[in-house]
Amino acid sequence: LITPVILCGGSGTRLWPLSRKSYPKQFVPLVDDQTLFQASAKRLSGATETLNFAAPTVLTGADFRFIVTEQLAAIGIDPGAILIEPEGRNTAPAILAAALHLIDQDPEAIMLVAPSDHVVPDVAAFHTAVKKGLSAMEDGKLVTFGIKPTHAETGYGYLELTALPDASGDAVDLKEFVEKPDAERAAEMVAAGTFMWNAGIFLFKAKDIIAAFTTYAPELTGPVSEAVDAAQVDLGFLRLEPKAWAKADDISIDYAVMEKAHNLAVVPFDGGWSDLGGWDAVWRESGPDENGVVTSGEATAIDCSNSLIRSDSERLEVVGIGLDNIMAIAMNDAVLVADMSRAQDVKKAVAALKAKG
Ligand code: GDD
Ligand code: MG
Repeated sequence: LITPVILCGGSGTRLWPLSRKSYPKQFVPLVDDQTLFQASAKRLSGATETLNFAAPTVLTGADFRFIVTEQLAAIGIDPGAILIEPEGRNTAPAILAAALHLIDQDPEAIMLVAPSDHVVPDVAAFHTAVKKGLSAMEDGKLVTFGIKPTHAETGYGYLELTALPDASGDAVDLKEFVEKPDAERAAEMVAAGTFMWNAGIFLFKAKDIIAAFTTYAPELTGPVSEAVDAAQVDLGFLRLEPKAWAKADDISIDYAVMEKAHNLAVVPFDGGWSDLGGWDAVWRESGPDENGVVTSGEATAIDCSNSLIRSDSERLEVVGIGLDNIMAIAMNDAVLVADMSRAQDVKKAVAALKAKG
């Protein structure tokens, strides 16, 4: 029995104006009519022939707790625990809290940690990859999932394999984990051919990740254990104790543990994967037509190419004429129009608006 641990934090400023601080991207329908969070929960639910998933443990902030319960109810999934973080301290404290919570119930608990904001189109291939990771996990390994890199992305972690994966798709031991390299290092790693991107999905036993935290990030274990032990049950949510939680460092699991641990393995995964890091990725994943156009909502494209035109407002009709390489996204209270190549600069818009007050 595998317990999915779904991470639901982060604000995703690059998908403004749809993704907001109060309603981050994982809760918004982006590429089809279900949200990324719902798709993640579905992908990690039920029993398949070879995998059996327990009810998911969800980690999120107080502001999102009812969005989580509503969106799970809408797809008929009963959550296990919903852990509420008093404030976002990044993924290391969140994952440690889930591990400590789960090990209380089962000393051999198995965790499949997954982000809530990714697109994984081939669910069957994903399940096969998880299954491939189980024997390495039984050996006490911290199992990661590797994506074949296509460019020198600096926003990802890189996994250096000890041997190239063979056709079996079995897990391979890891030599090194490099989180968010600079552009030069990223280019070297892509050129070397022995690196994969870290998908951000992890499979391990609760006891093994707790041991890794104890060795590599001992400063987190005190505050996080305290926050879990003193957690309050509140309307069915498990609210981590705020004072202890505030003492936990704000750090990702990649920096806190993965870069330092020696017992990592990677399962290659080629079932398609996108972390929807910008509107260009949403456009690509939404299945552009033969002219490269995606329209969504009350949107019309006339003689356009390679463009994304969407209205997420019932009040606004959006029409593009003769556009090439443009993204136009309309909401009731904000409209974004930008060159497709500037997708990563959308976070600047958010910063600029914040500065304006
Ligand atoms: N509950 C909770 N609390 N979730 C969080 C928090 C937090 O404080 N911070 C981030 N998350 C969630 C995000 O919502 C996302 O689903 C996931 O954890 C990963 O966090 P990101 O902030 O998106 O990480 P990243 O994209 O920069 O890097 C990670 O993912 C890459 C792949 O997308 C790393 O694992 C990289 O190595 C990896 O390549
Ligand atoms: Mg991410």
